[in-house]
Formats: sequence, structure tokens, C-alpha cells
Amino acid sequence: MASDMEVQLTAPNGKTWTQPLGLFINNKFVKSSTREKITSINPSTEEEICSVYAASTQDVDTAVKAARKAFRDPSWKRLSGTDRAVMMHRLADLVGQNAELLATIEALDNGKPYTVALSENVPEFQNVLRYYAGYADKNFGQVIDVGPSKMAYTVKEPLGVCGQIIPWNFPLDMAAWKLGPALCCGNTVVLKLAEQTPLSMLYVAKLIREAGFPPGVINIINGHGREAGAALAKHENVDKIAFTGSTATGREVMKLAAGTLKNITLETGGKSPLLVFEDADLELAATWAHIGIMSNQGQVCTSTSRILVHEAVYDEFVRLFNRAVESISVVGDPFDPNTFQGPQVTRAQYERVLDYIKSGREEGATLAMGGVPIGGPAVAANGETSKGFFVAPTVFTNVKPAMKIYREEIFGPCVAVVVFKTEEEAVAMANDTTYGLGAALFTRNMVRAHRVAREIEAGMVWINSSNDSDFRVPFGGVKQSGIGRELGEAGLAAYSNIKSIHVNMEAS
Ligand code: NAI
Ligand code: MG
Repeated sequence: MASDMEVQLTAPNGKTWTQPLGLFINNKFVKSSTREKITSINPSTEEEICSVYAASTQDVDTAVKAARKAFRDPSWKRLSGTDRAVMMHRLADLVGQNAELLATIEALDNGKPYTVALSENVPEFQNVLRYYAGYADKNFGQVIDVGPSKMAYTVKEPLGVCGQIIPWNFPLDMAAWKLGPALCCGNTVVLKLAEQTPLSMLYVAKLIREAGFPPGVINIINGHGREAGAALAKHENVDKIAFTGSTATGREVMKLAAGTLKNITLETGGKSPLLVFEDADLELAATWAHIGIMSNQGQVCTSTSRILVHEAVYDEFVRLFNRAVESISVVGDPFDPNTFQGPQVTRAQYERVLDYIKSGREEGATLAMGGVPIGGPAVAANGETSKGFFVAPTVFTNVKPAMKIYREEIFGPCVAVVVFKTEEEAVAMANDTTYGLGAALFTRNMVRAHRVAREIEAGMVWINSSNDSDFRVPFGGVKQSGIGRELGEAGLAAYSNIKSIHVNMEAS
């Protein structure tokens, strides 16, 4: 059954559902004004899943107007934080009740393993919403002592209409990170999904309506970045823009937002280092180094994609790391429970990763493992028929800091391993980048661990782990990895203004 607004889909695991295809504005699914659609591709098979309406500039304006109206409407504006929290908990419950379906959609549209989507991404959505629901009636201002004849206090007020632009690597998580604090503080939202992976959040839109949010509070649109994303970032009636994606696009978003001096939060790219000192637990370091680069098909902004190893343990670490990659990184069908790594999200990302691998070879790094497509167009071109954007987990050793694979964000299962001699040199190498998102370090010397953690220019440091993120802990970068923080209590600061109220007590 196919209609304009929804389609019946069945996944390889037998799950069947009705997929909404419209723009979710004012709690209704609607067509785009131009009728333009974007086709979602299954990256495992390269087959079309369905086509979803793409918002035009005019549709963005319609969504912003809906959000503005909702922001001023007593049904949202007069709601207490306690009552907003009830709706947020209800949404978290509904997402939990649909966990298997949402994980299925994610595996189909994004290519990530179903088991990961089910055990990590769906719970993350719930956890983040519940965490911020808890803050919704506990996020108040201060009373400030200005002497006995006066009184001053502050109230935290929502910013207004928040434009939120998310990427394709974690469609559910990224939506929750942005919706949670925005709703907690009483804002309204226009959320633009990544055009490569719109399906899971369009299904969540149905649940948003069911959870009881008034029309216009949460609007969810699919659309091209250059059109819908840009229209949102520059819209004069949008108060805030929160963006996650590449540094290049983040820079564009910042320029567009400058026109009306919008509040901005940017989470952008990274080339995060992982340091292995000579006194490290090498087994532990190898295990986490594998997680740090190979999880989510290597498509993680905080992935520790540069591994810096002390010369005394270099060979042994590389041996253990390669063993970890070989034994854990099972590449295959996202619906196979044994799969650790699915396909890259799109043909563009697949080709981009293969191009970087080519450049690593040309620049003279040693290809210690992988380096080849496992399926897809590149293999098919060799005469075999093979589908899907799969890339073998790839390890380059003997990398030099001038090489592209060491300097640029690859965003795939490809890592560069380099050698260092001293702690000082390791820190200098770690900081020799325009990025500053995460960093991991392995040592048994806790004095050194905390010393190096402070020396490294990054928003987050993991001591004896990597990419061990937690919704209760602030997340974000320094340098060109972003502006502001999401998650934790710090994430709230991005979604409210502080109003100061001065009271002259002598007025009576
Ligand atoms: P992108 O940064 O262009 O896309 C992210 C989001 O921004 C999408 O929703 C997109 O539609 C939107 N967008 C694109 N152009 C825009 C514009 N001019 N104005 C407003 N919004 C716009 O990333 P893309 O092209 O999908 O991936 C390219 C590279 O970006 C990746 O290889 C990776 O290196 C990096 N990336 C980083 C992510 C992260 O989590 N930090 C996530 C996704 C990509
Ligand atoms: Mg897709």
C-alpha cells in the first residue's frame, strides 16, 4: 500500500509498519509546498526504501510560524515545568514501547546494527528525555542580595523558537540531545532531520502527537541542508540554532545565524587523539581503541581516529589492536546479530572513506589491515556483483603527522597509528590539530593521567577508556570542534535566557 503521506514497509526482520512521509508541522503530516521528495536508501542493499517530502524555504517558514504561535499559546506557555515533564516522560515511554520498531527503522535507513540501535540508541533517547524532564521543574533562578531596601532575583525563561539541525550518524540520539533541553526549558522547536536518515524520527513524530504535546511545539521536517537547513539558520523569527555536523557546514550555519544575532550551539568535527603511554594496560588500551574508532562504522564525531603510541610499546600495542579489530569488527548485514559493523551510511560517505584510504597509501603509510571495500559500487566495478556500502576496517601504521589521513576527519572505520617518544611530544602531537573534541589516554600513572588530561586541548578526555559518553556529563568541543555544550546540566544553559528583576522595596 502506498499513498502520498504514508507507506507500508517491511524490514528483513519481518517488522511491518506504516511510515509517515510528510513534514510534521502543527502535529500534522503535510506535503511540502513544492511536492519535492528525497529518496531514502538502504545502505546495505542500495535499494530505495521510500521517498519522504523535503521542506522548501516556504515550508520552513510555515513550520517556524507554527512554532512561534505555539510558543505564545497558553497551552504551552502557561504549562508548569512539572506538566512539561509529564509529556516528556510520556514520550520516553512511547519510544520504549516502540523500541524494536525504531531500532528496525534505524538499521534499515542508517545501516547501523539492529542490536546496537536497540541496546544503545533507543535507550539513549529515553534516558535523555527523562533526564531533562527531571530538570523541568528544578531549573530556577537566584535571589541576589542587594541590601535590605531592594530585592533582586532572576528567572530562567525559554529562548523562543529553536531551530535544530541534526546529522545522520545518530538520528535518534541527536534528536533527543536537542529536544530534551529545549522542551525542558519551555521552548518550541523546528527540528530538521538529516536527509539521508529521516525515517526513525518521522515515526517518533507520531509518538510526539500521542504524548500530548500541543500543536506546533515540536515540528519535524526532512529537507536538504542547503535549502531547508539554511532557511532555518537564517530565519528572522528563529531565536536559536543548534547544529551537529561537519565543521565546514557549522561555519556556514554560524554565518547564516549572524544576520539576526541568534544564540548558537555547534557540535562539529573532530580528529581526536588516543594516547598510549609505555606504562599502559595494553590489552585495555587495545579494546577501547577499537571501540573508539570502529563503533558506529567509524561515523562518530568523537571517534579517536589518531592513535599515538609510545615507541617502547608500539609493536605490542599494534599487535593487540589489530587482533581486537580482527576478532570484534565483524562486517555484515545490520540485522545479523553477529554484526559489529554495517555499511557506511551513503554512497558519498563510502566513496569519501575509500578516497582517504587511497590517499593514505599514496602518501606512504603502511596498510596494516583492511583498506578495501567489501561490497558496493567499487567492488562491482571490478566485475563482481556486490551491493552495499561496506568498507573493511582499516588500520594504517607508520603514519606521519603531515599525512591527510592523520589531519582530516575521515568519518569511517579507518585509523592512523603514529609513534611518540616523550610525554611532552605526545601532548604536542595531540594538540597539533584545528579540532578539539575528545581525547583518550592510557596510563597506570594517575598523576600523569590527570596532568595530561589538563594539557590536552579538548572538550572531553577519557582516562583509560574512549568514547565513554554519558548523558549526565557535558558534551562538546573546543577550537573548531564547536561552541557550547550539550547534555548534563551544562546543556540547559543553551536553552534559556536569564531575566533579572529588580524590586524597589521602598515603593509602598
Ligand atoms: P553536514 O554537516 O553537511 O550535514 C549535517 C546537517 O546539516 C544535515 O542535516 C544537513 O542537511 C545540514 N546542512 C547541510 N548544509 C547546510 C547549510 N548550508 N545550512 C544549514 N544546514 C545544512 O554533513 P554531511 O555532508 O552529511 O557529511 C560530511 C562530513 O561531515 C562527514 O564525512 C563527517 O566528516 C562530517 N560529519 C560530522 C558529524 C558529527 O557528528 N560531528 C555528523 C555528520 C557528518
Ligand atoms: Mg538511508
